[in-house]
Amino acid sequence: MSKRTIVALPGDGIGKVVLDEAIRVLEAAGFEADYVTGDIGWEFWCKEGNPFPQRTIDLIEKHKICLFGAITSKPKDAAFAELSPELKEKNLVYSSPIVSLRQHFGLDICMRPTKSYIGNPLNFIRRGANNTIEEPAVDAVIFRQNTEGLYGGVEWSNPPAQVYDALMTHPKFRQNFGSHPKEEISVSTRIFTKKFTTRILRAAFEHARKYGYKSVTLCEKPNVIRETSGMMYKLAQEIQKADYKEIELWNTNIDAQMMWLTKNPEDYGVIVAGNMFGDIASDGFAGLIGGLGFAASAQFNPDSGVGVFEPTHGSAPKYADYPVSIVNPIAMIESACMMLDYIDEQPIAAKIRKSVAEVIAEGKVRTYDMMKMTGRPDVIARGAASTQQMGDAIIAKL
Ligand code: NAI
Ligand code: MG
Repeated sequence: MSKRTIVALPGDGIGKVVLDEAIRVLEAAGFEADYVTGDIGWEFWCKEGNPFPQRTIDLIEKHKICLFGAITSKPKDAAFAELSPELKEKNLVYSSPIVSLRQHFGLDICMRPTKSYIGNPLNFIRRGANNTIEEPAVDAVIFRQNTEGLYGGVEWSNPPAQVYDALMTHPKFRQNFGSHPKEEISVSTRIFTKKFTTRILRAAFEHARKYGYKSVTLCEKPNVIRETSGMMYKLAQEIQKADYKEIELWNTNIDAQMMWLTKNPEDYGVIVAGNMFGDIASDGFAGLIGGLGFAASAQFNPDSGVGVFEPTHGSAPKYADYPVSIVNPIAMIESACMMLDYIDEQPIAAKIRKSVAEVIAEGKVRTYDMMKMTGRPDVIARGAASTQQMGDAIIAKL
């Protein structure tokens, strides 16, 4: 059998550091692959005026499976200022390569597991009856629609006349906004389509069935956002009734869900939501299991098979130049495990997860975040493990 080729997209800052660590762990676990590096991120914006060059798109089209570190994004003015002088005349506008990647490849399914590791000092704890301390075992998987909704990019400030006129035909718009000058109005749309709403719902139910979760919770706000959340809830009910009778469908509102986050997080299994509420719910749950050092994600398109696996965190530029890297590579390593699941290498993924669990349970090797230190170069001298030492500890368990 020929070896697989994985597109490695290191990106910026700590992206490269954690990606190297994940590849080291994959190799130690016996995953055989060739890695080709794709250019993406700030460096390519500055040098070429394009943070997501066509050659990278071609590589992804060819090989389909990507491990992604993180990129740096900056506001428009800062982006222009750092552009190479000879490109400044060209009217280039910076846009985030992550968003471009998502849109170009239609990565409509985003999956973010949040499962607590036994012994992680960052796990959420709460007070029980009689002053007992409870540490609930969190195991929620958030399915977030990744291409539509509030992040769909259809928005205007001072909307064009046709848009404004169309909005004025809506009685609520006339009533609530009709007296404001057009120039003072900004509009961001929240568009849901039946096709992609159905896809994220089905992906959530399928995952629940495959991994034995007893419930799927739709986390939206159908009582207020009647058209989009309402459609999603209705579709969820139909899909559950038709094809997933053994799985319970729960319905929570995003605001209440955030309030309940600390009350009963252990009750939730699979959670499914639109783009923005999925983003919020997944960050909320990630906070219960250790935060950015532990938050992994997968984004994929079931039609083309293109899948991008990346930690939720960004490029943390202030840590990128430390002589010894201090950041936690576990989120990236977990993301690599999600890649292995996706390409049917579950046994290797299970082996890696077991090793990570052992290192955390043992508690001898902990990165600065796990020791609740402020990230500074001196954390190593104060007993925190470096990024590489964490990688070494996981590899030793393998
Ligand atoms: P960030 O996630 O890079 O860092 C925020 C803070 O979280 C860090 O200062 C650090 O204290 C902690 N942190 C992050 N990753 C960690 C790790 N692996 N181990 C331990 N601690 C960790 O977010 P920030 O500072 O808001 O953004 C920095 C840059 O990253 C920006 O340019 C932003 O646009 C970009 N970004 C990129 C993302 C991506 O590539 N998917 C996602 C989020 C931000
Ligand atoms: Mg987020």
